[in-house]
Amino acid sequence: MKFLLVLLAYLAIIRMSLATNCVAVGSFRQSKDPTCQKYFTCNVILDIYFIKTDLSCGTFMKFNPTTQQCDYTSVCIDSFCDNQPPLQKLPDPNALNQTCRHTYIQCKGITNQYPTIEQCPLASGCC
Ligand SMILES: *[C@@H]1O[C@H](CO)[C@@H](O)[C@H](O)[C@H]1NC(C)=O
Repeated sequence: MKFLLVLLAYLAIIRMSLATNCVAVGSFRQSKDPTCQKYFTCNVILDIYFIKTDLSCGTFMKFNPTTQQCDYTSVCIDSFCDNQPPLQKLPDPNALNQTCRHTYIQCKGITNQYPTIEQCPLASGCC
């Protein structure tokens, strides 16, 4: 068991790489992952460098892009923007309160649309 933990820690370290798509600190869904198990974290070191770490949720778990955590119940949004009209706004199925959602899915991109999670405008609160 101890050996396994050491091995996992070692693997986590060698999988860390200098970021190519870290723009903010936090946990983010890996786009184009139909399993929705992959995500990455971005951390800042020395106040200037972003460090990206690729991670995967446990078996049967998915990365919830709204809560930024792995869970058993979240809906995979990877293909939500496929075959949608351009720049569509869609309800966030992972919003914590489904009667008053504070987040929505914004489809972005021109030829291959992809989903992002956006916050509702503060004035209205729900959207
Ligand atoms: C969800 O939002 C509605 C409308 O604002 C509110 O009445 C309700 O208490 C909220 N539910 C939870 C679980 O926060």
